[in-house]
Amino acid sequence: MMDMFCVEGGHVLHGTVFVDGSKNASLPILAATLAIEGEVTLEQVPQLQDVATMGQLLQSIGAAVERLDDGSLRINTCAVKSSMAPYELVRQMRASVCVLGPLLARFGSARVSLPGGCNIGHRPIDLHLRGLAALGAEIRLEAGYIVAESSRLRGADLDLCGPHGPTVTGTCNIMIAASLAKGRTIIRSAAKEPEVQDFARFLTAAGARISGAGTSIVEIDGVDHLHEVRHTVIPDRIEAATLAIAAAITHGDVTIRNAPTTHMTCVLNALNLIGIPVDATHDTLHIRASSMPRPARLTAEPYPGLPTDCQAQFMALLSTIEGESLITDTVFPERFMHAAELVRLGADIRIQNNSAFIRGVARLSGASVMASDLRASAALVLAALAAEGHSEIRRVYHLDRGYHALEQKLNHLGAKIQRTHDGSPNIAPRPHIAPLSPDNPLGSVRHAGKRSGQE
Ligand code: UD1
Repeated sequence: MMDMFCVEGGHVLHGTVFVDGSKNASLPILAATLAIEGEVTLEQVPQLQDVATMGQLLQSIGAAVERLDDGSLRINTCAVKSSMAPYELVRQMRASVCVLGPLLARFGSARVSLPGGCNIGHRPIDLHLRGLAALGAEIRLEAGYIVAESSRLRGADLDLCGPHGPTVTGTCNIMIAASLAKGRTIIRSAAKEPEVQDFARFLTAAGARISGAGTSIVEIDGVDHLHEVRHTVIPDRIEAATLAIAAAITHGDVTIRNAPTTHMTCVLNALNLIGIPVDATHDTLHIRASSMPRPARLTAEPYPGLPTDCQAQFMALLSTIEGESLITDTVFPERFMHAAELVRLGADIRIQNNSAFIRGVARLSGASVMASDLRASAALVLAALAAEGHSEIRRVYHLDRGYHALEQKLNHLGAKIQRTHDGSPNIAPRPHIAPLSPDNPLGSVRHAGKRSGQE
């Protein structure tokens, strides 16, 4: 049986909560460790299902992956011999395709399963393949696998622009491959996301020569090898935004620490537009209840625009604000599976092309709903917090892929969420959220016992 959440809505959130490390920064960095012979230590890698899946993938290829007592992850790739990423693991997580560039760069060949279908819409990887081909790789598809070969990649001037803008993991794949290629590579239309910038910082610390990360033109001078490195992953801006919206939707008063506020300008602008007061310092957000929230027109775009990974959560929030709102998603135009489930909670939403027309209602009401993907799950949790009465959210394994103990963090703030399993209540251990200290530099949630559904 799968885990589900039982949520008693209507509780105002207040208190302080800490943001974990970024999932989307951690995954390509973990994959890139395959290109480094030796040991890599990563701090602030969140304990998530997706991280566990990437860890299994690295192990299946021959790497040793260990979570140390201080919470950091140590990856040793000395024994990596294979350059094959199997379907059984790749199908669980699309970011597995990030191993393609590192394996090809280090071993001269890679065999990586095609990732397969996805609930948030059509997600091709043609730009990854086009970029690697521009670096001289010979690429063919064989029995559901991408086979890429090149005795030595060589630098090139290439453009990674796709029909919906730049590609985040595609930019990372080409950056790592180009770092070990012969000569200079120029990536045009590169993704500018903070996670790409963190990836560049990681590679640079390992000896890569990269300039321009965070702009649309990234230049890379290839080196012969990358060396051992220690790196701290940036905090998760999407988790911080989700917690901020949780505060807003419950009319709460919440302080969010370890928030990467400089990466969140567009999220903070959207909250301001909606009339939610937010005070931001470099690593802290303080969200207060708004007496007069307003409807808004928002567009999810590549960074520095509003993240598509926050689109569903903003839709939940705008569903509770009277008046007419509009959300357009230019990155994933079909990413609206959550809308029908929000309607089950009483929202009034109509989807047309890549836009959602939302007529805010005075109150959502509890219902049984089904999570369809990671951020859709988060939106349903937020809506259920605001809804009158009880809600059941099924398939929260989607949520566990990308949030560490979200229900425990929200319960710490006053929410009433119970994780149940196998039909019977499985009362989650009371979390102890330790203050930031030298012993707890991440300010992460400590668990009193084993939790189900993660790692
Ligand atoms: C990453 C994030 C994901 C986020 C997305 C967009 C990770 C692990 N995941 O996913 O959470 O929602 O960025 O910000 O970092 N595209 C192509 N061809 C390609 C690649 C992408 O057409 O080869 C299209 C996609 O279908 C999509 C758009 O480009 O419409 C952006 O996708 P992309 O940035 O590649 O998403 P991911 O890197 O997979």
